Amino acid sequence: MYKIAVIPGDGIGKEVMEATLHILDASTIGFEYTFADAGDELADKTGIPLPQKTIDIVKQSQACLFGAAGETAADVIVKLRRELDLYVNLRPVKSYPGTKSLFEDIDFVIVRENTEGLYSGIEEYTEEGATAVRVITNKASERICRFAFEYAVKTDRTKVTAVHKANVLKKTDGIFKDNFYKVAEEFIGIKSDDKYVDATAMFFITQPKMFSVIVTTNLFGDILSDEGAGLVGGLGLIPSANIGEKYGLFEPVHGSAPLIAGKGIANPSAMVLSAVMMLEYLGEIEEARKLEESLITVLTEGKIVTEDLGGTASTMEMAAEIRAKFAMSIN
Ligand code: NAI
Ligand code: MG
Repeated sequence: MYKIAVIPGDGIGKEVMEATLHILDASTIGFEYTFADAGDELADKTGIPLPQKTIDIVKQSQACLFGAAGETAADVIVKLRRELDLYVNLRPVKSYPGTKSLFEDIDFVIVRENTEGLYSGIEEYTEEGATAVRVITNKASERICRFAFEYAVKTDRTKVTAVHKANVLKKTDGIFKDNFYKVAEEFIGIKSDDKYVDATAMFFITQPKMFSVIVTTNLFGDILSDEGAGLVGGLGLIPSANIGEKYGLFEPVHGSAPLIAGKGIANPSAMVLSAVMMLEYLGEIEEARKLEESLITVLTEGKIVTEDLGGTASTMEMAAEIRAKFAMSIN
């Protein structure tokens, strides 16, 4: 029995969470869910988007499933990442059949530093306008690069690419790049190279297969992972894992999507794949593969899928279909 904290949040976060829990219900693994509140709706009611109680519930669980926050995202998810020291944001960019992926066989992973960079929260108004501080430390750079190489070893990948802008951000990204190559020396079996972030944005579209594992700073990772989502067919398909020494939090890359919220048409795949990443984190590898395979089957058949995938099914109809395949694969 795993203790799981569940934070549905706002908008389609709630819808894709309901869908995913419905699918996980078919699992042979026991989950004990503790629901916790966070986000815009809670802030409207209480003035507080992320109460201490929610942080405590996550700390008392073995993993957390998170839907999405809306306008309070910075005070909710960015804060959770920092409070729980979830220093890794792992974002796979993988093309699945039956999607609008621009290429077939895309499979790379973005390892985004999650605690500092331009998202360190140090921003202030000045006489001329405003200033944000981009914090890059040796400690955070080293540990994120080390995670990237260890992840490459663990997943049989052969190359890690550091993405930065050290030609302009000489000191901050200089530190990041130096730490990358220092760590690289310890992993002789893994190739290492580095690229500028602007060139990388182009290579995503022109030669995405050159990438295997990308490690980068906070803002660059945020932007590149949405581009990665576009590359493989949209935000409805991209999951993520936020991992630290003690805790793991799993969430789709997308937000609350107010434009489609309440209509029951959100694609549940990104949240389902986030649950796959949670199962991997918990060491339930076989169950993770079966859940991913069930989703792949539904995507490949392309019959009971949501609008963004070219279908007409609702979120819950697609979830029911995934659940049926999942239940069948387990029995
Ligand atoms: P978004 O990711 O919520 O949605 C952008 C567009 O992508 C949607 O309008 C929709 O067309 C499409 N989309 C996203 N998820 C989809 C799904 N599951 N199925 C089908 N289509 C999907 O980004 P947006 O509109 O920039 O932000 C909306 C709100 O979400 C903002 O308030 C923002 O602060 C928040 N946000 C929260 C995040 C989080 O909680 N981690 C991350 C990103 C944004
Ligand atoms: Mg983002």
